[in-house]
Amino acid sequence: MNTLHTVVEIQSYLSPLKRKGCQIGFVPTMGALHPGHMSLVKLARQENDIVVCSIFVNPIQFNNPDDLAKYPRTLDSDIAMLREAGCDAVFVPSVQEVYPIPDTTIYDFGMLDKVMEGRFRPGHFNGVAIVVRRLLEITRADVAYFGEKDYQQLTIIRKMVQMLSLPVRIVPCPLVRETDGLAMSSRNQRLLPQERAVAPLLYAALRKCAAHYATLTPVSLQQAIVADIEQHPFFRVEYVDIVDMDSLLPVSTWTDSKQIIVCLAAFLGKVRLIDNIVLRR
Ligand code: PAJ
Repeated sequence: MNTLHTVVEIQSYLSPLKRKGCQIGFVPTMGALHPGHMSLVKLARQENDIVVCSIFVNPIQFNNPDDLAKYPRTLDSDIAMLREAGCDAVFVPSVQEVYPIPDTTIYDFGMLDKVMEGRFRPGHFNGVAIVVRRLLEITRADVAYFGEKDYQQLTIIRKMVQMLSLPVRIVPCPLVRETDGLAMSSRNQRLLPQERAVAPLLYAALRKCAAHYATLTPVSLQQAIVADIEQHPFFRVEYVDIVDMDSLLPVSTWTDSKQIIVCLAAFLGKVRLIDNIVLRR
């Protein structure tokens, strides 16, 4: 596997392959890789001639400097996992390489980046859009893979690709969980043992409510999920939203939308976790 640090290096690697007609699959990440990330790489491996992964902790998508400073960096083990999964190249650029001049683009995603995560992390998705566009332009990937763990991010990236007519196909990938149900995330490492022990409660609450959702109104379902989670004193719910899977706008009755997902964010101690469950699609 090639480890490439500069735009010139990655483009000199990929250009001849593109000219030969190879299909390039791309998995953008911020590193601290776990089996959730690797499921994207494995799918990319099955569907493409060449698989490229990027590891770049994008400073402009962090709202909180402390969160950026504490972001786990595990490059050696990341590279070992990618090699093992059959990835062809990993792009590990510096901030200077990605942003030789600051990119101050402001995207208009309508309501998509105003709700849920967007309400609590202003500017976050604009920073995500800037870096993903830049990485897609650098790699000229044919196909790019995004996890449904970050469902709102996936929706916004699809919107950006459509708005800008970027020549790439976006492939959504299922959310990967630990065996006890906790959604895999690099932030899980920051949970204290007693917090980690109760963390599966988040998904348990989602599953329980999803099982009999149609017997409640969306608002009472939302309240039931919040109450269920906050029964445990370690949790503080930031939001639980029951939304249409395309517009991300809340549904007020079950007939408002055919495709419905419940998304949530909650603090478990100091760690902010997100999760979701599809009610129907
Ligand atoms: P990161 O959090 O490293 O995630 C990289 C990709 O892995 C994203 O598409 C994310 O949805 C997916 N992923 C993470 N955990 C997952 C899980 N448990 N199951 C399935 N997929 C999972 O998301 C980002 O980085 C950044 O915002 C990025 C897109 C790279 C832009 O900087």
